[in-house]
Amino acid sequence: MTHLLHIDASPRGDRSHSRRMTKEFVEKWQQAHLRDTVTYRDLGRNPVPHVDESWIAAAFMAPDRRTPELWDAIHISDLLVDEFLAADIYVLGVPMYNFSVPSTFKAYIDQIVRVGRTVAFEPNDTANVFKPLVLAKKMFIVEARGDSGFQPGGQYERMNFHDPYLLTVFGFMGITDITFIHVENDEYGGQKLADSITNARTQIDRLVGSYT
Ligand SMILES: Cc1cc2nc3c(=O)[nH]c(=O)nc-3n(C[C@H](O)[C@H](O)[C@H](O)COP(=O)(O)O)c2cc1C
Repeated sequence: MTHLLHIDASPRGDRSHSRRMTKEFVEKWQQAHLRDTVTYRDLGRNPVPHVDESWIAAAFMAPDRRTPELWDAIHISDLLVDEFLAADIYVLGVPMYNFSVPSTFKAYIDQIVRVGRTVAFEPNDTANVFKPLVLAKKMFIVEARGDSGFQPGGQYERMNFHDPYLLTVFGFMGITDITFIHVENDEYGGQKLADSITNARTQIDRLVGSYT
């Protein structure tokens, strides 16, 4: 049995392409894997807090030195990390906002990148100070964009801080098996958008089919 963590980061409802596509992905996955389980987190509608001074003090302190107040400060982060580590497969819907991820998604990343939990910090091992702790996972990211041309070789490649950022930050924690599904051209609509949605659906069918 495999456990999926399904996360949406778009604040939009029915008009969100990333939300619609992650829903379709997970529904198709569950039809093909009847025993698999899913946890859902909606960052677009229910954002997690930003880190603050108490959070930072708690996160970078040995657990046995934390006061009850500092345990409180890190409590939500611990719950989010527990939820993150419990999954085998991640299905994320993350729009491109100003060439990167929505701030709600960045707030989530800041909550789950945790020394001692998702990444180890070993300052004496100078060749390898950070060691990933989230291993043997698989991730699918549906990225919706208003425009196109952000792929390698595209006219906006150098402005793409979305895909490279997610590859870097999840790779930092150990998740390297990451597949992107792009829905582009929301700002243009019409056939350009329709073709992109069709391509995304075809890719989802192929991906889900390849894991049966
Ligand atoms: C605040 C904001 C910033 C955006 N920045 C970009 C951008 O940098 N590049 C782009 O191609 N589209 C950009 N868009 C368009 C969205 O990526 C596009 O509408 C996408 O479909 C949103 O995802 P959703 O359909 O899942 O809500 C932006 C939209 C918003 C609201």
